[in-house]
Amino acid sequence: MNTRIRSIRARRVWDSRGRPTVEAEVTLNDGAMGRAIVPAGASKGTREALELRDGSARFGGLDVLRAVENVNGEIARALVGSAADDQSALDARLIALDGTVAKTRLGANATLAVSMAAAHAAAAARGVPLYEYIGGTGATLLPMPQIQIFGGGAHADRRVDVQDFMVVCPRAASFAEALESTAEVYRRAGELLQSRGARHGVADEGGWWPAFSTNEEALEALVTAIERAGFVPGEDVAIALDIAASDFGRAGRYRLGLEGRELDSDGLIELLLRWIERYPIVSVEDPLGEDDPAGFAHFTQAAGHRLQIVGDDFLVSHAPLVEHAATIGAANAVLLKPNQRGTLTETRRAWKAAQAAGYAGIVSARSGETEDTTIVHLAIGWQTGQLKVGSFSRSERMAKWNEALRIEERLGGRAQFANAAVFGRTRRS
Ligand code: PGA
Ligand code: ZN
Repeated sequence: MNTRIRSIRARRVWDSRGRPTVEAEVTLNDGAMGRAIVPAGASKGTREALELRDGSARFGGLDVLRAVENVNGEIARALVGSAADDQSALDARLIALDGTVAKTRLGANATLAVSMAAAHAAAAARGVPLYEYIGGTGATLLPMPQIQIFGGGAHADRRVDVQDFMVVCPRAASFAEALESTAEVYRRAGELLQSRGARHGVADEGGWWPAFSTNEEALEALVTAIERAGFVPGEDVAIALDIAASDFGRAGRYRLGLEGRELDSDGLIELLLRWIERYPIVSVEDPLGEDDPAGFAHFTQAAGHRLQIVGDDFLVSHAPLVEHAATIGAANAVLLKPNQRGTLTETRRAWKAAQAAGYAGIVSARSGETEDTTIVHLAIGWQTGQLKVGSFSRSERMAKWNEALRIEERLGGRAQFANAAVFGRTRRS
């Protein structure tokens, strides 16, 4: 087995929004090949690593030919001949080559495509699935899926303020069973909208397009859908929200467009606390804006003992930000999106910082996705216990859920499922 890199090749491919993105292929001396495609966000944190776009006249400035050229030129020249199976050394080369924290020179889309493709190639050279290459044979924990039922916020033309109305299945015995339960809830939610004459296709991540006049109406509808699917809300199927508050708030002022009112940080916290009293909510992501750490800490103090509080735009998968959040008691979980940083090693570092702080971790897709299923293998290889991919429709989402099903089947009797234990620390007593 010769795992030295023989060639690196990138090309422009297309994502679920019909926009250009970067695919890389890494081929090793022994002929093994790995391929990966990077995703793209829409409601991004300002401290994310840079997604390099050409800014030219083509495709609204979104072309990625410069990032592709950075892979085929500079990155290939630097990495050909190095070992693909030393991920941290390989990523360290990419980081040093770019020379900036936010990958502003080469683009995080260029570096991440190579970082992921090299991992796939190394796994292929060993003849093992990626999750096992990353986590060893002890990587047997299937993640709890957070699955969107209604899309909102930046993913649905701001028809509703909250970005993700999701479900989790704390009582499911397996990943497969969690999907079965979610399928019923998703179907019932669609029927519910149809019966109100308000079913209008799906939002960016495949959740039903939101036809509600308040955020709470969406929460009511979700509880009704859970009941109509035959489940006990909060017991069998519970609610997870991504407020994505950075999208409607700056400097501690939050504008709820739907309800036509503006709240300060304390007002938004009060509103959210009312929601968690009234609805079976077990996880809330980005409850406050990325520039409101004091609000984050305040909310965590008020609700962190019974609720998972997730930093996405707030922490941008960045280990130093996770460490700092822990010192001020803000959030108790981190969303892990590899393209927020640009290498697997840096994303994993954020997860390690989370574990050291006693935070939970959720590997996550982006709203602009593809058939690439690398994140499923990361969630299992890193044993994070949770995975967020968007909704239960559209193949760029289903590709991930289906890949996890295959892995669960392959693990057979060794498979474990991160059910209620995931929320053990944070569930309501
Ligand atoms: P994005 O949002 O991929 O559009 O940035 C997803 C999220 O906020 O979790
Ligand atoms: Zn988010």
